Amino acid sequence: MVDAPLFHPTFGSRPSRIVGRDIEIESILNGLHTATGARERCTLILGQRGMGKTALLLEVEERAKQEGYVVARVSHNEDMLEEVIELIQLKGSPYVQERKRPVKGFSAGALGFSVGLTFTETTQRNYGFRVKLDLLCQKLEESGKGVLVLVDEVKTSEKMRQLATTYQNLVGDERSIAMCMAGLPHAVSSVLNDSVLTFLNRAQKIKLGPISNQEVRAYYASAFEQLGLTCSQDILDSASHEAAGFPYLMQLIGFYIVRYAEGSHAVDASVLKQAIRSARSDFEDNVFSPILAPLSDKDRLLLDAMSQDDGPSKVADLLERMGMSDSRFQPYRARMIDAGIVESPRRGELVFAVPFLADYLRSKNEALS
Ligand SMILES: Nc1ncnc2c1ncn2[C@@H]1O[C@H](COP(=O)(O)OP(=O)(O)O)[C@@H](O)[C@H]1O
Ligand SMILES: [Mg+2]
Repeated sequence: MVDAPLFHPTFGSRPSRIVGRDIEIESILNGLHTATGARERCTLILGQRGMGKTALLLEVEERAKQEGYVVARVSHNEDMLEEVIELIQLKGSPYVQERKRPVKGFSAGALGFSVGLTFTETTQRNYGFRVKLDLLCQKLEESGKGVLVLVDEVKTSEKMRQLATTYQNLVGDERSIAMCMAGLPHAVSSVLNDSVLTFLNRAQKIKLGPISNQEVRAYYASAFEQLGLTCSQDILDSASHEAAGFPYLMQLIGFYIVRYAEGSHAVDASVLKQAIRSARSDFEDNVFSPILAPLSDKDRLLLDAMSQDDGPSKVADLLERMGMSDSRFQPYRARMIDAGIVESPRRGELVFAVPFLADYLRSKNEALS
């Protein structure tokens, strides 16, 4: 019996099995085992949309809980500081000894708490985020628990500065606290360039790249077997090749294969073809469109110029195609690299970091001409 669907192509969902990412998960969890204040206790995860940032945070949350952490996971927003406090109170309370209401006049919650992790009214009213988080860390530490704060969709903001500065201060006070943040490459790079947040450059950085073809293939093989679908080696090869290591695309292709194979017990070439077509179309709508929408015409010009090449583009060719000098070209190159859309594997060369984006741009441009 299968409890959760094996393929679940929805952003922010916890996959029924996390494929690949062993090294990344280990690095983050190892960070939690290091001494208070070690740089590995703070991790920044960066990756394109659909690369599995949220899935990784969800996995880390589960694993960290098993290792004695109370975890507060928030998506960056205006109220995230209050959410962090409330989540720690909620998730940490089972680990804290409930005391009877203190007798009036008795040192009513010397540490600022009335019952469990509920603050006294005075604490609640008079103190801000830093003191509250500090009190929670201290109280949980008495029960042998650490605090892990996870921030998804990280961005530069006043709240982010407050959160990170508080983290830094609590680390200075030797509290058992750790932090892990995830975001799009350009959001993470703006965080690192912020004058207040610049200390995060010391954090452990994890760039989420594609999952290996082998792992995708093995996952497809076991998932189809579990679903009672037979599948030739060729079909497995093609399906995993088409997923290009992108977790979201892997989920989409798997999902559509299962849908189109319904009623039969085998995945044949026509099912695969149909599945790839549907998966690509969803991928374009949900990954390419949001990536391309915020770009300026000039940025698009660079991507279009790159899309004329089948493999890596030579910068010299791009300059010629775009009619630009090297110095005018540099800011575009830097912006596209920052945005995680383009990579420079070798000096003087650029490649797309997002699979099939070149094909997509080519087909759009053909349709226009
Ligand atoms: N390592 C993985 N193994 C299996 N599925 C994954 C993995 N990472 C992500 N996914 C799935 O891919 C899709 C996109 O992942 P998500 O974490 O939402 O991406 P991001 O937060 O980077 O935009 C989701 O359906 C998710 O369950
Ligand atoms: Mg996400």
